[in-house]
Amino acid sequence: MRMKLLVTLLAAALCGAAITACSPPKAEKTKLVEIPDGTIDPAVWGKNFPEQYETWKATAQPTPEGKSKYKKGNDGGKVYDKLSEYPFIALLFNGWGFGIEYNEPRGHVYMMTDQKEIDPSRLKGDGACLTCKTPYAPQLAQKQGKTYFSQPYADAVNQIPKHDQELGVACIDCHSNKDMGLKISRGFTLTKALDDMKVDQTKLTNQDKRNLVCAQCHVTYVIPKDAEMKSQDVFFPWQGSKMGDIPIENIIKKIRSDKAYGEWTQAVTGFKMAYIRHPEFEMYSTKSVHWMAGVSCADCHMPYTKVGSKKISDHRIMSPLKNDLKACQQCHTESPEWLKTQVITIQDRAASQYIRSGYALATVAKLFELTHKQQAAGKQIDKGLYDLAKDHYEEGFYRNLFFGAENSLGFHNPTEAMRILGDASMHAGKAEGLLRQALTKAGVEVPVKVDLELPKYLNNRGVKKLMFKPEQELKDPYGPQK
Ligand code: HEC
Ligand code: HEC
Ligand code: HEC
Ligand code: HEC
Repeated sequence: MRMKLLVTLLAAALCGAAITACSPPKAEKTKLVEIPDGTIDPAVWGKNFPEQYETWKATAQPTPEGKSKYKKGNDGGKVYDKLSEYPFIALLFNGWGFGIEYNEPRGHVYMMTDQKEIDPSRLKGDGACLTCKTPYAPQLAQKQGKTYFSQPYADAVNQIPKHDQELGVACIDCHSNKDMGLKISRGFTLTKALDDMKVDQTKLTNQDKRNLVCAQCHVTYVIPKDAEMKSQDVFFPWQGSKMGDIPIENIIKKIRSDKAYGEWTQAVTGFKMAYIRHPEFEMYSTKSVHWMAGVSCADCHMPYTKVGSKKISDHRIMSPLKNDLKACQQCHTESPEWLKTQVITIQDRAASQYIRSGYALATVAKLFELTHKQQAAGKQIDKGLYDLAKDHYEEGFYRNLFFGAENSLGFHNPTEAMRILGDASMHAGKAEGLLRQALTKAGVEVPVKVDLELPKYLNNRGVKKLMFKPEQELKDPYGPQK
């Protein structure tokens, strides 16, 4: 019975991608051992499924260099500093952990280690930080209730058994121990968020789950704070949206709706702001071409691969560019070179808009700094113009932030990415115009070119005194805007 289930499961997985011509793999005669309920140790699961276990462990390996242009994560075992890649974000995030140390993501094995090694300023989310890192999060949240979110980060980690304090996403996060079917383990976040969108969760298909297991973590979330800035909860800002359409406008509306969602204060402007993190699921599922074609995260990030005589889903989850677009070729007949050119071209166009809107917003932030100095010196600034400028600035900032936090540089949803970045630039332009008008009206002379003072924000960051690494900067692929 058990064996039959597994074989069916394999066949179902292979045919999941409807477009693929699928040939179910041959049944393997593996002797299965019982996986007791609540087993977290992947090695126990690995006894039954050594191939999946080995590829899961392989996320520890350095990724090959020279294959991805923008997502170098752990290429050649090096760390890539996002603030050096995009210097304007060092200015925009100044005043907050992300403006001190912010690295490109790497393999799943590292998620807890990377949190341990990051500058301590990044752990202001308290225990809530563990939600998309440790497989113990669901049981801790259940046992401890509110304390789980509000206790200091180190205390929360100490609730995890010592030998597992560095264990990242594990089999139990995505699978049922009974039949290895896909399962959502983060009921306290994802299930609730799907309820908010009125998704009938009894009707989820396997292909839905091939997205949703990833959506447990690759989503943005809000950590509401109390008056002492202690974390209270974690939730996804999906209210008012629906499955297959979680537009940036709805997310911004939600995160701007309550002061308690303000997690940090932007140093340059003094504005208290909310934050957006890795919204892969939101960006991808908002009517992208691939989403509309029924393609899932797993189709592109866990391609079928042969290990020995077995055909399995590759659990070495990484950028599809790094294994030469094998995943894409399950559906596309074009050559890997053609596919790679498409990916890089989409990313170049989006990166250019990202960088241009980013510098435009950084300029506005500096104009607010100037405005505040002038106000402190007694100049009267027109309140109507100021408020309007601030509103446009925040709307633009959140759009630029959303794109930058999403990890595909536009590939997951090219046209939506360009729409969002176009709006980011539009809001930045309006904010700048309004502020200049307000300053001029108050008799302040504003220079045509605003000095961003970037070295001030890029160097000597945090306890590690991190410095700008010019060789890592990702310059506008279409050159400087005249
Ligand atoms: C428990 C939370 C969690 C789940 C579930 C999860 N991820 Fe991740 N993922 C992360 C974190 C955290 C990182 C960054 C790790 C680091 O840099 O330390 C990451 C990194 C990645 C990366 C970058 C890897 C690299 O080599 O740079 C990819 C790609 C990825 N995840 C895809 C997926 C896909 C696809 C799924 C679903 C099949 C998924 N993830 C499920 C938390 C999760
Ligand atoms: C981030 C989520 C995630 C994690 C963690 C994960 N898997 Fe999977 N696994 C998947 C997905 C998605 C599939 C494809 C299933 C489908 O389409 O039905 C899969 C498929 C499988 C299958 C079915 C055969 C195959 O290869 O398609 C087995 C067996 C399996 N995984 C074992 C494991 C084991 C053992 C671990 C822990 C070492 C593990 N998985 C960790 C997401 C995950
Ligand atoms: C049609 C294929 C496709 C689908 C579907 C897809 N991705 Fe991606 N993903 C990509 C490509 C291509 C990149 C860019 C990789 C690069 O630039 O190296 C990427 C990048 C990423 C990254 C950053 C990788 C890194 O190395 O840092 C993450 C994380 C990620 N995707 C997660 C997801 C999640 C979660 C989903 C589902 C919600 C998803 N992807 C759906 C193709 C896909
Ligand atoms: C499960 C099947 C599947 C996988 C895997 C897949 N695609 Fe696609 N892709 C499609 C379908 C279906 C379309 C829609 C176009 C069509 O109907 O011909 C599409 C469209 C595209 C387009 C055109 C998009 C547009 O906006 O016009 C590009 C480019 C593309 N895919 C690249 C990739 C790359 C690169 C990968 C791997 C990272 C990939 N695809 C993986 C099925 C897939």
